[in-house]
Amino acid sequence: MANPSLLILAGDGIGPEVMAEVKKIIGWMGAKRGVTFDVTEDLVGGCAYDKHGVPLHDDTMAKAQEVDAVLLGAVGGPQYDTLDFSVKPERGLLRLRKEMDLFSNLRPAQCFDALADFSSLKKDVVAGLDIVIVRELTSGVYFGEPRGIFVEGNERVGINTQRYTESEIARVARSAFELARKRANKVCSMEKANVMESGILWRDVVQEIHDKEYPDVQLSHMYADNGAMQLVRWPKQFDVIVTDNLFGDVLSDCAAMLTGSLGMLPSASLGAPMANGRPKALYEPVHGSAPDIAGTGKANPIACILSFAMALRYSFDMGEDATRIEKAVEQVLADGLRTADLMGPQDGTPISTTQMGDAIVAALDASL
Ligand code: NAD
Ligand code: IPM
Ligand code: MN
Repeated sequence: MANPSLLILAGDGIGPEVMAEVKKIIGWMGAKRGVTFDVTEDLVGGCAYDKHGVPLHDDTMAKAQEVDAVLLGAVGGPQYDTLDFSVKPERGLLRLRKEMDLFSNLRPAQCFDALADFSSLKKDVVAGLDIVIVRELTSGVYFGEPRGIFVEGNERVGINTQRYTESEIARVARSAFELARKRANKVCSMEKANVMESGILWRDVVQEIHDKEYPDVQLSHMYADNGAMQLVRWPKQFDVIVTDNLFGDVLSDCAAMLTGSLGMLPSASLGAPMANGRPKALYEPVHGSAPDIAGTGKANPIACILSFAMALRYSFDMGEDATRIEKAVEQVLADGLRTADLMGPQDGTPISTTQMGDAIVAALDASL
């Protein structure tokens, strides 16, 4: 059988730095677990713009459609802020999501015991936390038409449109209910049905799908602003949260801090099943290119490494190795190793990105 195939798009800023640590783990899988991946690398974001004048070349898009899974680092940076909107680095990532039709973005927020003291919230609020935000990723205000900056009378007007069809809501709702059945069987759907028609439709469709297909799952609805507050007040009330593209973006950065750092949060963006039965998929950390620390060796590679673990679980049916990687991360944190984002100024000396990657590989070795 052909080796499983991976397209690595490390991107900009800390993207290549954290991806270098994932490559060590891919190498470890080959050397120690006998699983060899066919790895292709290519450009996305600002680095693709620098070479091709576009943030995602058509050939790269075509490769992404062919492989078993895409691993992405991060895109963007201040040097690209003044580019025309159509060629900004972020457009490359959004094109991948849209054309691969990756409608269900799983963003788990798990608080490792060793970090429970480090969250900006009290320890008992976050200890043992294990929630997943399911963010709709291919529609909503990110993609709705009309959009643009227009002139009306003597001033400019900026327009974006929140637009959801029933079928778009239904498919992401199903993916949240399916996930909940494998977990604590609870879904909380978040929108603003009090002020947005698209929110009313969202609530109705999620409820209908629940009543017809998933009556066994416990479903609740919450306005997204209250949801943001509840995430900080008592996040352990949640199991799976399902929400739209924009609310999901904001709520997942908020959830990141429950785990201690944005550098801890992985994600899986999943689409419809391919011919092999596995979903079309892209895996990436929730964080961005962190221009403030790029090139300093301070980036935490754990979010990217845990995203690779999600790839093993969701694209390659290698749940056991995914768990092995998650346990190795847990072990390294329990041993007290910390990148700078996981410590205060008084907490001693942080380790570097590469030292964190090496420590995780050593913990993997010890697990055999
Ligand atoms: P960011 O996530 O890049 O950084 C926010 C803060 O978190 C920064 O202080 C950064 O140093 C810190 N941080 C992020 N990841 C970290 C890690 N792994 N280890 C340690 N610290 C980490 O968000 P931003 O500063 O708002 O955006 C910077 C650029 O990244 C922008 O161009 C933005 O559009 C882009 N972005 C890309 C993605 C993506 O590629 N998926 C996601 C978010 C932002
Ligand atoms: C994310 C990022 C992206 C988003 C940007 C970079 C397009 O913030 O993945 O969370 O807004 O979806
Ligand atoms: Mn974001």
